[in-house]
Order: sequence, then C-alpha cells, then structure tokens
Amino acid sequence: MILCFGGAPTMLRSWRLRVKRLIPPTVLNNALLRVPILYRTALVNYETNMGPRELEDLHEILPEVVKVHGDLIECGSSRCGSTVITALWLRRHGHNRRVFACDSFEGFRPAEFEKQKQRGLVTDADNAFTSTSYEYVLRKVQVLGLDGMIVPIKGYFQDTLEGIPGPFCYALIDCDLEESMEYCARTLFPRLSPGGWMVFDDYFSQQFKGARHAVDRFARDHQTQVELSEPRRSLYAVRKRHDTTAE
Ligand SMILES: C[S@@+](CC[C@H](N)C(=O)[O-])C[C@H]1O[C@@H](n2cnc3c(N)ncnc32)[C@H](O)[C@@H]1O
Repeated sequence: MILCFGGAPTMLRSWRLRVKRLIPPTVLNNALLRVPILYRTALVNYETNMGPRELEDLHEILPEVVKVHGDLIECGSSRCGSTVITALWLRRHGHNRRVFACDSFEGFRPAEFEKQKQRGLVTDADNAFTSTSYEYVLRKVQVLGLDGMIVPIKGYFQDTLEGIPGPFCYALIDCDLEESMEYCARTLFPRLSPGGWMVFDDYFSQQFKGARHAVDRFARDHQTQVELSEPRRSLYAVRKRHDTTAE
C-alpha cells in the first residue's frame, strides 16, 4: 500500500477525481469509514483538495504557528482533508490544540456563487463540494481518533464565525469565493494572537479568480498590522505583528 504524508502528486489527484465520479458518495463514504487506513493512501490522502505545493507550504508554516498561543481554525474544510492533516501533525508533535473546521458542508452560498459566475470569476460547477456532509465528517473525525481535537462547525461563515471567539494562532481561509474569503479574513484577523498566521489558498487559482482580489484588498488594508504578507509556493501567508493584541 502506498502511504502519503505529504501531497498527492497531480496524476494521483486526477485519478482520485475520476474514482470519486464513478462511485456513489454513500458507497465511497461507507468504504472509507469502514477501512480508515484507506485515508492514509496516496490516492486518498485524507481527501484534501490541497496539492503537493500547498501541503509543503502548510508543513513549513505549522512549526511557526505552534509558537503562538491559541487554537486553529479553517474556513472551508469540505471533507476535512486539510483539517485531518493539520490535526495529525499537531498530535505527532505533541501539541494539544483544537482545530475548528467551519463549512456549510453543503457547498457554496448559491447567490454568492452565481454573482461570481456572472462576473466570469469562477469556472467550477454549481454543485462543487456538495458530496460532503456534517454527519460524514463527524464520523470520519471519530474513526480517525481525532474527536475533541477537530471541532466541525456547520453553517455559512456569515452565521457561525461570530460564535467562535478565539484567540487563534492560525486561520486557513480556503473557501474559494471572494466575498466569503474577505468576510472570514476581516472577521478573524482581530482574533489572531500577536504573531498569529492567516493563510489563504487559491491566490494563484485560475478556477477561482476572485480569491486573489480578496487577498490583495485584505493585505492592502492591513499593511500596518502585519509583519509578513507574501505568496509562498502556492499559499499566501500573512503574519500579524507581535506588538499587537488579540481582541
Ligand atoms: C476548497 S473547499 C475546502 C477544502 C479543504 N480545505 C481541503 O483541503 O480539503 C472550499 C469549501 O468552502 C466552503 N464554503 C465556501 N463558502 C462558504 C460559506 N460562505 N460558508 C460556509 N462554507 C463555505 C464550501 O462548502 C467548500 O466545502
């Protein structure tokens, strides 16, 4: 069996998409939940949508993140692939932090997706990310022994983030659409601890072109409050200044 702790190579990812299209979601979910070792294979790689370059960036940033006080939060978790990879890294390195996995677990907000489509900023299908569910991720987290550490929060960010006070050492913004990305970044930045990290996916995406607009606007407006703001191999990383406070 091929095991993979880094990123699945591109060919494997396209194979995974093909397999996913062929197998009905309930059959796939049951097979993975019954044989959890499958999650560790290179083909599945815990079902993250992140590619090798994003995962290399993530593994470089996490050792810096744990020097900072607080929990971790993801805005955009889908099938909790990046969440599980992050939580396993934390556990392997002896860090007992919670990872909040926020998502509708039903896909995009339809009106927001439609607006981005009309502006020609998205090329994904309307039903993208609808193969997941809150019930599925709860069971997945449980079979992987990560319950308590990963906390799935179901709902649109606009309705859920207010109820998660932080402080956070890290926020991953991986929700693809411009308006939601900017909402999450502006809402969570004040709750980052001094020296905390905010990391954006899709900055270079051709599929979700609005992501770059959201990151550029956010970065421009927070210039004086950050000590680092730069694209990595694939992720865009922002670090809050050490001499500021979490609200
Ligand atoms: C690219 S996926 C996340 C992938 C995940 N981080 C991984 O590595 O596998 C983007 C997710 O953002 C979610 N999303 C987008 N806009 C949202 C919103 N306003 N509220 C809640 N979830 C949203 C979608 O449901 C989708 O599951």
